[in-house]
Amino acid sequence: MPKTIKKLAVLTSGGDSPGMNAAIRSVVRACAYHNIKCIGVYRGYEGLIEGDFNEMDARSVKGIINKGGTILKSARSKEFRTVEGRQKAFQSLIEAEIEGLIVIGGDGSFTGALIFNQEFGFPVMGIPGTIDNDIVGTSHTLGFDTALNTVVDAIDKIRDTASSHNRLFFIEVMGRDVGHIALNTGIAGGAEEILIPEEDLGLDRLVESLNKSRKSGKSSSIVIVAEGDKIGKNIFELKDYVDENMEDYDVRVSVLGHMQRGGSPSCFDRVLASRMGVKAVESMLNGQTNYMVGLLNGKMELTPLDNAIKGKTKINLELLRVSDIMST
Ligand code: F6P
Repeated sequence: MPKTIKKLAVLTSGGDSPGMNAAIRSVVRACAYHNIKCIGVYRGYEGLIEGDFNEMDARSVKGIINKGGTILKSARSKEFRTVEGRQKAFQSLIEAEIEGLIVIGGDGSFTGALIFNQEFGFPVMGIPGTIDNDIVGTSHTLGFDTALNTVVDAIDKIRDTASSHNRLFFIEVMGRDVGHIALNTGIAGGAEEILIPEEDLGLDRLVESLNKSRKSGKSSSIVIVAEGDKIGKNIFELKDYVDENMEDYDVRVSVLGHMQRGGSPSCFDRVLASRMGVKAVESMLNGQTNYMVGLLNGKMELTPLDNAIKGKTKINLELLRVSDIMST
């Protein structure tokens, strides 16, 4: 028989992503629905260590479902990486009579949560929030869909100027060491080439492919480069290489950067966040802890937190093939 929980806490940690606020709202309202108290923890694990808590009710999360960022703020805590830091965090939770912790974040945040659970036996639950979509156990992390739409909008705008000037643009997108954002937005934005860490195209083949595009009548080109791609040392070196090895190409670089993390969440991310928050709270109330909630085959499913952390997401090979065919 699961123990009756009276108080849960929620925090956001690591890089923020659109949809985190919608997930906070969902956790708080699911707690209110089940008549349990919900404590918001500010600044991720930093706030957990310092006891920077605030009790939240259904009304305290009004008007945030459409807002980017996180009202609870986020941080990457160095102190929580130490046993002393985690001991302080445990103390804060016990003093506040909190019985379970919901962590909205990426794999670094989940690793912290799992270590914390292993050391103190404190029940934790993860909600995957990162634009990178690099977590096993969910087809979509919170914020990925919104980031895709933001990037596609930027590519469309860059294409306008690229085609006016007959230019080649290298556009760098985020994704840490995976290429999910690059592959999807490259296809949706009609890129001539997509460079991702999961596939080594090589500089020669890149030049060959750009030459082929030019010969086929294309006067401007877009190449999407995932920030984790290793083809050149960085995107500026790629530009230099193409400048040196291809005549008559006017090359420009655009690094989209942190704008990809902001903005109002898409409908998809709002719905996903709402589902994940409810699933996280209700799973904890059912006595299921140390899991991550995720979307698998259209359903909310639980994955053990250590599997979610250890696993590596795979690139969709069908998308790779489609992108090759589309750049013909
Ligand atoms: O994990 C999200 C992410 O935006 C990555 O895509 C990127 O590599 C990293 O965070 C940037 O981190 P920071 O905000 O610390 O510069």
